[in-house]
Amino acid sequence: MDRHLSRRRVLRLAAAGAGVAAVGPWFLRAGYAQAGPPPLEKKDTYTVGFAQTGSNNPWRLAETKSMNDEATKRGYKLIATDANEDTAKQLADLDSIIAQRPDIIIFPPRESKPLAPAVLKAKAAGIPVILIDRDVDHSVAKPGVDYVTFIGSDFVDQGRRAAEWLIEATGGKAKIIELEGTTGADPAIDRKKGFHDLILQGSFKGTPVADPQPGMQILASQTGDFVRDKGRQVMQTLLQAHPDVTAVYAHNDEMAIGAITALEEAGRKPGQDVILVSIDGENAALDAIVEGKLGASVESSPFFGPISFDTMMKYANGEDIPDWVKVEDRFFDKNNAKEFQGKQY
Ligand code: AHR
Repeated sequence: MDRHLSRRRVLRLAAAGAGVAAVGPWFLRAGYAQAGPPPLEKKDTYTVGFAQTGSNNPWRLAETKSMNDEATKRGYKLIATDANEDTAKQLADLDSIIAQRPDIIIFPPRESKPLAPAVLKAKAAGIPVILIDRDVDHSVAKPGVDYVTFIGSDFVDQGRRAAEWLIEATGGKAKIIELEGTTGADPAIDRKKGFHDLILQGSFKGTPVADPQPGMQILASQTGDFVRDKGRQVMQTLLQAHPDVTAVYAHNDEMAIGAITALEEAGRKPGQDVILVSIDGENAALDAIVEGKLGASVESSPFFGPISFDTMMKYANGEDIPDWVKVEDRFFDKNNAKEFQGKQY
C-alpha cells in the first residue's frame, strides 16, 4: 500500500472505482468508495447545472453573465435557475437540476447551513459539485469529501482590510454603523468577523495583529440584505437612533450607495462628516469614490465563469484540487478608482 497517497487522491481513486468495491484495493474494500466527491468523466462537452441565488444587484448579474459567457464560449449547456433571493426556492431549484442529471453542478449557496444538505443530495445522486462565491457549513458538507472545492474570496480578510482602511482614514476615532449582508450567508458572517476582530480585539483569524481600537465604536449593526434600497431604509432608521454616527461599514457597495442617499436626504455630507467603506468594487462604487462620497471598496470579484470551468476541467483530468481555490481581490480608493471607472460591472 502506498502510504503517501493523499486523502484527495485516495478519495478520487475510490470515486473512480465505485462499483468494483469487492475486488479493489484496500480503500475500496474498506468501504471508501462513497467517500470522495463523484468523479467527472472527460468529454467533449458538458451539461452544467447553475443555481443562482437571485438577480437583485449588479454583482449577481455580473456573476450570472460570467457563467453564461463562459459556457457559451466552451459550447457547454448551462441549466440555469434563479432563486429570487429565497433559500427555499434555491433548494427546490437544486432538486430540479439534480433530477435533470447534469454532469456537474456549480453554484453559490445563498445561506451556508440550509444549503449544505443539497450538496449531499447531489453527491448521493452521483453528481459532483463545485461551490462558487459562497461556501456551505463544513460541519455538514466538506470540500474534498462531499464536494470538489470552494472557489471564492477570503471574506474575513475583506472585513479586516475594510477595518484597516477605516482606522487609518478616521485616525482611530469613529462611531460606526454597520450594514450587514444577508443573514446566514457566509460573506455576511465572515465580513463581520474580520472587521469586528480587528477593531475590537486587534486580531486576525485568532492572531494578534494590532492593538484593539478603543476609539472605534460600533453603534449598531443591522442587515440590509446586500440590497441598495434596503441599505437606504436601514440607514435612515439607524440614523435617527444614532445621529452621532461618523462612519459606515457596509458589507457591499449597493448598501453603501443606499446609505449615501439616506445620509444626503438627512442633510449629512457622506465622505466628509460620515466616512464610508464597503466591499465589491462595482462601477457605481468607483464613481462614488471619484465623487468623494465613498472612501474605499475592497474588491470581491463576481467573475467566476473562467475559473469555475477551468477548475472543473482540472477535476475531470484528475488533477489535485485544493479544498479552497482562493480568489485574490484588489482594493479601490481615491488613488486608483479613476483608472478602473466603467471597467467593472
Ligand atoms: O457573495 C458575495 C456577495 O453577494 C456580494 O458582495 C454581494 O454584492 C452579493 O449579493
